[in-house]
Amino acid sequence: MTFVDFEVTPGGALRGGVPVPTDKSIAHRALILGALASGPSQLQGVAPLGATAVTRRALEALGVRFTEESPGQLRVQGVGLGGLRPPAAPIDCGGSGTSFRLLAGLLAAQRFASTLSADAYLSQRPMARVVAPLRRRGAVIEGRFHPSRAGELLPPLAIGPLPPGAALLECEESLPIPSAQVKSALLLSGLYADGNTYIREPVVSRDHTERMLRALGVPVQAVASMVELDVAQWNRRIPPFSIQIPGDLSSAAFLLVGALLLPGSELTLRQVGLNPTRRGFLEYLRDVGAPLAVEERGDQMGEPLGDLQLMYGGPLRHGSLGGETLVRAIDEVPAVCVLAARSEGVTEICDAAELRVKESDRLAAMARVLRAFGVRCEELPDGLRIEGQPEGPLQAAEVESGGDHRIAMAATLLALVADGPSRVQDVGCVGTSFPRFAGTLRALGVAVRAVERDSQ
Ligand code: S3P
Repeated sequence: MTFVDFEVTPGGALRGGVPVPTDKSIAHRALILGALASGPSQLQGVAPLGATAVTRRALEALGVRFTEESPGQLRVQGVGLGGLRPPAAPIDCGGSGTSFRLLAGLLAAQRFASTLSADAYLSQRPMARVVAPLRRRGAVIEGRFHPSRAGELLPPLAIGPLPPGAALLECEESLPIPSAQVKSALLLSGLYADGNTYIREPVVSRDHTERMLRALGVPVQAVASMVELDVAQWNRRIPPFSIQIPGDLSSAAFLLVGALLLPGSELTLRQVGLNPTRRGFLEYLRDVGAPLAVEERGDQMGEPLGDLQLMYGGPLRHGSLGGETLVRAIDEVPAVCVLAARSEGVTEICDAAELRVKESDRLAAMARVLRAFGVRCEELPDGLRIEGQPEGPLQAAEVESGGDHRIAMAATLLALVADGPSRVQDVGCVGTSFPRFAGTLRALGVAVRAVERDSQ
């Protein structure tokens, strides 16, 4: 078997402006709602590979047609709410948790049976959180029992069909953990339900589904951390639409952190999504003194976007990340860990137990990677305590990504400030969210090379 590694030579600076990959979360939702619209929609900037390709293939398996009209411009022939067709085979979601959980909600409302399957990594991730509330509103779903945790369910899921004549019921859920994937699954199932959908979260998770539905005239109300979909006031029709997917702040975060690590860096990133429920990382940067300028420039279907500008200005203060800010920076924690490794003092990350069930156990993985580069850190049940080392280089290392794209990118940044060449192993996963990561870094002025390696 052949693996791809990154060989990283330290030094250089990130200078210039580059496009960042488009936002996966928004793209998944645009694909699904485009498929359910009554007519053709135009989606500009849906990545052809990675996680969003999983959602697109799944929708194709359900009878939806997509046409690439020009590079980056996708036309989706919406089939209407009732137009999905039974899939001929199990739908493979690979490693994409967002595809899996959002589609679970959509498929739970259908009159046909379907199966959602997953790769080895996603097959270990908890699904009871989405199955249980869907079952409570009448969905028929079976999963694989967790070998040791009673009540937990794992992929694959066998879904539906709904019994003849039955429809999904009203749902009133108070989620124990904030989760945009679970909330979105319930809202998507709610489009078909006989009653309303009410969801309360301890802290509002990313609200892309709510914003897109509202932009399409679906009566979704949000008050504090409560969301309501009131189907009684709706004609059950999603109009066709046109969207340009904003840049992904979660991908931009790695470039921003790279620029904050390397003296002489000067970076401009344009058209990046600035949704308030995703801005925790930008608030963290402001708190630790990063010289970041944010300029808002309009919106796309209710999603604000804008330009980010940053210049290296010396080591930053230590910070702390937890509570509701952590929820709004959940995918940026690996990037924050890298920054903490080069900041003054001790940085604390807490309330982050959810990171243990992401693409990998990100708290354990980051502790392992930080230590490999000689950074002292303590792993806590729900976080990390990281001792910054702003002076002198880190120790060069050879580290494994563990199949997690954000861990691979975090390790690559640490390698840029090491005392010699480093190697990040098994970086094929980076394509999930940032397919041209190494090329982008090279274009900005640092030496990261992808090399193939045969497994021994
Ligand atoms: C996502 C929600 C978050 C996030 C993931 C994308 C989404 O997961 O970590 O990368 O698009 O809905 P949870 O819902 O598990 O918090």
